[in-house]
Amino acid sequence: MKIHPLVKEVLYTREEIAAKCKELAVAVNQYYHANSQDNKDNTVICLGLLKGCIPFMAMLLLDLEIEVETEYMTVSSYAGGVAGNLNPEIMFDLVADVEDRDVLLVEDIIDSGKTIKLVKDYLLDKGARSVKVVTLLDKKSGRKVDLAADWYGFDVPAAFLIGFGLDYEERLRNLPYVAIADVEKIKAWTWEK
Ligand code: IMP
Ligand code: MG
Repeated sequence: MKIHPLVKEVLYTREEIAAKCKELAVAVNQYYHANSQDNKDNTVICLGLLKGCIPFMAMLLLDLEIEVETEYMTVSSYAGGVAGNLNPEIMFDLVADVEDRDVLLVEDIIDSGKTIKLVKDYLLDKGARSVKVVTLLDKKSGRKVDLAADWYGFDVPAAFLIGFGLDYEERLRNLPYVAIADVEKIKAWTWEK
């Protein structure tokens, strides 16, 4: 496996993530099979938060055996850097009407919880019947609001992570693993190299 020079430590390899996605999909399938309602539209809206959700959502989707529609939203958050900004905002809204629908929010990582809380409240406000949250990574120590994922892949340390959807200044989302970034090196890094 080729390791990017800005990596300090690889936490989860592509194979470990793939296995975890299967486990998560099994749990999600079971939940919706057990909780579907016959007299309504049971198709779940699988709502990914751009841009970080892409690799995780792509893997998870292929093991979902429930009927889904896919939707996306963009919520501003880190503004690119290592430190989180204060309050997230919706930059790009989803297309589907969520009234009376079951929504599964798909996120790369939950840190403070503000992003997911904002989206969850927004969807419930619009009349969603249920909103569940699945995240690949859960940085529980970063939590600033009362919010828990319904399903998470890995409990991660309070470090700046990159790869598998997670970026530093919009780059490194394509690394096929999740890693702790070398924060000292990253600040002085020139991408032209
Ligand atoms: P929250 O609102 O603080 O929970 O932040 C969630 C968002 O912040 C995620 O969707 C990521 O885009 C970003 N984020 C949180 N932690 C990291 C990290 O360690 N590396 C890169 N992005 C992160
Ligand atoms: Mg994100």
